[in-house]
Amino acid sequence: MHSGLTRSKVIIALTGLLLLSACTPEKKYRVLSFFFDGVPNPSLSGKESNSKAGPEKSQIIAAQKAIRKARNKRREKKPETYVSQHPPYVNRQCERCHNQTSRNMLVSSKAELCFNCHEKSKFTGPYVHGPVAVGACLMCHLPHRSVNPSLLVKKTPGLCLQCHNKTDIFANENHEGVTDCLECHQPHVSGNPMFLQ
Ligand code: HEC
Ligand code: HEC
Ligand code: HEC
Ligand code: HEC
Ligand code: HEC
Repeated sequence: MHSGLTRSKVIIALTGLLLLSACTPEKKYRVLSFFFDGVPNPSLSGKESNSKAGPEKSQIIAAQKAIRKARNKRREKKPETYVSQHPPYVNRQCERCHNQTSRNMLVSSKAELCFNCHEKSKFTGPYVHGPVAVGACLMCHLPHRSVNPSLLVKKTPGLCLQCHNKTDIFANENHEGVTDCLECHQPHVSGNPMFLQ
C-alpha cells in the first residue's frame, strides 16, 4: 500500500499520467517515481533495479492476470435475487430507521428499532426464545433485503446452528435426519416448552 498517497497527490499523479505518453523512458521513470514508490529504474539493469524494491516485469504480468481473472469472476457471478424485501427499505423510508447524527446511525437501539413498527406483544409469551427476549432480531434477520424468505440471514439449519451446537443438536434422537428446524419449532415465542409448534 502507498500510505503516503494523499488525495492531492493522486490528483497531481493523474494529471502527470496524462503527460506521460509523450515522455522518454527516463523522464517517465522520474515522473512515476516522484508519485509512486517502487517504479523500476530503466537505466539500471537486472538485479540492481530489483533491489530498489521495484516490481519485476513477471510480477506485474502476474498481477494483471490476477486482476483480469477476478474481474471475469465478478462478471460471471449471477446477480443476487432477493426473495424478501423490507417495505420501508424498498419504499426508501430510510429515515424511519436511520439517523445520521446518532452514534449507531439508527433512530433507536438495535434492540428497540424493530418495535417501532412491529408489535412488541407478538414477541412475548409463556416461552420466549433467548435472542428474541434480548432483542437480537438482527442475529436472524437482515434489515433491508434477503436472498432468503422473511429477511432471514440464512436458511435453517444454518440459521439455528449460528448459536446451537451442531453436534449436540444431532445427538438428540428427535433430530434424526431433520433439515427444516421450523417444521417443529417456532423461532420467536410459543405456548409450548422448547418452542414446539
Ligand atoms: C427497517 C429499518 C431500516 C430501514 C428502513 C433501512 N435501514 Fe439501513 N440499516 C438498518 C440496520 C438495523 C442496519 C445495521 C445492520 C447491522 O449492523 O447489522 C442498517 C445498515 C445500513 C447501512 C450500513 C451498511 C449495511 O448495508 O449494513 C447502510 C449504508 C444503510 N443501512 C443504508 C440504508 C438506506 C440507504 C436505506 C433506505 C433506502 C435504509 N438503510 C433503510 C435498518 C434499516
Ligand atoms: C418503519 C417500520 C418498520 C420497521 C422499523 C421494521 N419493520 Fe419489519 N416490516 C415493516 C412492514 C410494513 C412490513 C410488511 C408488513 C408486515 O409483515 O408486518 C415488515 C415486514 C417484516 C418482515 C417480514 C418480511 C417478509 O418477507 O415476509 C420481517 C422478517 C421484518 N419485517 C423484520 C423486521 C426487523 C427484524 C426489524 C428491525 C431490524 C424490522 N422489521 C423493523 C415495517 C417495519
Ligand atoms: C432465532 C432466529 C430469529 C430471531 C432471533 C428473530 N426472528 Fe423473526 N423470524 C425468524 C424466522 C425463522 C421467521 C420465519 C417464520 C416462518 O417462516 O414461519 C421469522 C419471521 C419474522 C417476521 C415475519 C412474520 C412472522 O412472524 O412470521 C417478523 C415480522 C419477524 N420475524 C420479526 C422479528 C423481530 C422483530 C425479532 C426481534 C424481536 C425477530 N424477528 C427475531 C427467526 C428469528
Ligand atoms: C442468536 C443465537 C440463537 C439462534 C440463532 C437460535 N437460538 Fe435457539 N436459543 C438461543 C439461546 C440463547 C437459548 C436459551 C439458552 C439455552 O437454553 O440454550 C435458545 C434456546 C432454544 C431452545 C430451547 C432449548 C432449551 O433447552 O430450553 C430451542 C428449542 C431453540 N433455541 C431452537 C432454535 C431454533 C429452531 C433456531 C433456529 C430457527 C434457533 N434456536 C436459533 C440462541 C439462539
Ligand atoms: C421433527 C421435529 C423437530 C425438528 C424438525 C427439529 N426439532 Fe428440535 N426438538 C424437537 C423436540 C420434540 C424437542 C424436545 C426434546 C426434549 O424434550 O428433550 C426438541 C428440542 C430441541 C432443542 C433443545 C434440546 C437440545 O437438543 O438441545 C433444541 C436446541 C432444538 N430442538 C433445536 C433444533 C434445531 C436447531 C433444529 C433444526 C436442525 C431442530 N431442533 C429441528 C423436535 C424437532
